[in-house]
Amino acid sequence: MPVPAPSAPGNPSSSTEGILDTILSSKSELFRGSREVLRDSYVPSRLPHREQQIRQVAEILAPSLRGDLPSNLLIYGKIGTGKTAVVAQVRQDLQRRTELSSHISFVTLNCGNIDTPYSLLQTIANSFAKNEADRIPTGWSLDRVQSGMRRLMDAKGGILLLVLDEVDRLVARSGDNILYTLSQINTELDNARLSIIGISNDLKFTNHLDARVRSRLNEEKILFPPYDATQLQDILRDRAHEAFRDGVVDPGVVERCAAYAALENGDARRALALLRLAAEMAERDHAKRITPDHVVKAKNRLEQDIIIDCCRTLPPHCKVLLYAILQSFERRRNGVLTGEVYDSYRRLAERLGLQPLHARSISNYVSELESLGLIRATIVSRGRGGRTREIIVDVPISETMPALEEDPLIAPVGRPKPRGQMLLTNFDNPAGAGPF
Ligand SMILES: Nc1ncnc2c1ncn2[C@@H]1O[C@H](COP(=O)(O)OP(=O)(O)O)[C@@H](O)[C@H]1O
Ligand SMILES: [Mg+2]
Repeated sequence: MPVPAPSAPGNPSSSTEGILDTILSSKSELFRGSREVLRDSYVPSRLPHREQQIRQVAEILAPSLRGDLPSNLLIYGKIGTGKTAVVAQVRQDLQRRTELSSHISFVTLNCGNIDTPYSLLQTIANSFAKNEADRIPTGWSLDRVQSGMRRLMDAKGGILLLVLDEVDRLVARSGDNILYTLSQINTELDNARLSIIGISNDLKFTNHLDARVRSRLNEEKILFPPYDATQLQDILRDRAHEAFRDGVVDPGVVERCAAYAALENGDARRALALLRLAAEMAERDHAKRITPDHVVKAKNRLEQDIIIDCCRTLPPHCKVLLYAILQSFERRRNGVLTGEVYDSYRRLAERLGLQPLHARSISNYVSELESLGLIRATIVSRGRGGRTREIIVDVPISETMPALEEDPLIAPVGRPKPRGQMLLTNFDNPAGAGPF
């Protein structure tokens, strides 16, 4: 832990305010300033080894500055190869140049946390709404949302650049109809024109698309290759320099983080997470420097953290489904069948006031949770030709359930937190399970 700075004179540290001041002004021995620098959401000013991709994206989007509609663009590459960061940077650069003109609007959505075509269109539409009265509510028909969206787009006018990040997850969940609708929309707009920038972590994403959608979306295509260990070192050195005080990162730290991450598909996110955790390990040890040993400790912790982060970023219904699976599994300690899982999902969703999704969508979510490595589903025969899937949980329940229960979405149906000696284990007991 950092050593707290002495409290300022006249500011008694016994008062809450004094304590808060002391904590806020306490200096970390390792960090130069904000820790945000090592977070995924931080867009660094330089993206080494992505100069070529930045140029390509900028060239494709540049016609918008002249008022022309850019081609649709598909960016694809494995996770952590800088796709989101590059698009964010080009967006910033373009916006800097268009501050005075309003004919370009950017909308960036992460499809990873959007459940349905309805909520996708609603979110896009509402990003153009000027006031509360214009916003599209839930409960309309899909057609009505579409025409509402067109109206809002035309009211905005000009060139609309729509970034659909992690679009592969949307298509895996809900098919590609929605992309067809979006890629067609220019024929029905009067005043605005839309260009789509799709970002996919799945390299084979376009194989799953209908030919018409594929050719529309694929007008331009850019592959982001994985980083090798030396490239990751450059990326980490930049970030370490920005994040840490001089001389606190021992030789070998950056190299080791880069080497581990290079083995994991050249994932810059993984490399940064290792560096961030290594710093936390060092702080926990009250160390004045980060050593390669801290990186080893960080690597062991990371697997767990990745699982928890992954659960946190699931879309709402998928979270509820995962929680239903964990609950059933915890009770039974062996495989659960998809039918039972669907029933408990539906019960939870209803208790949360959510309209449960159809079994078909839930079945897609089961596949998605499987491809994320959180569960395993095996097909089992059940006599008379019936087949179903049996689900086994692949994550540590004791950590994953509390992580989900911290989520405001799940909290109302979560287990009550143990208070003193009292520990309720009957999860179906509504008396102890929130306001329902
Ligand atoms: N070339 C780079 N230089 C600096 N940081 C990078 C670079 N590529 C990726 N990053 C960082 O790594 C993390 C993951 O990158 P991101 O763009 O989210 O990857 P992707 O979208 O391909 O999964 C982000 O924190 C990002 O800032
Ligand atoms: Mg991304």
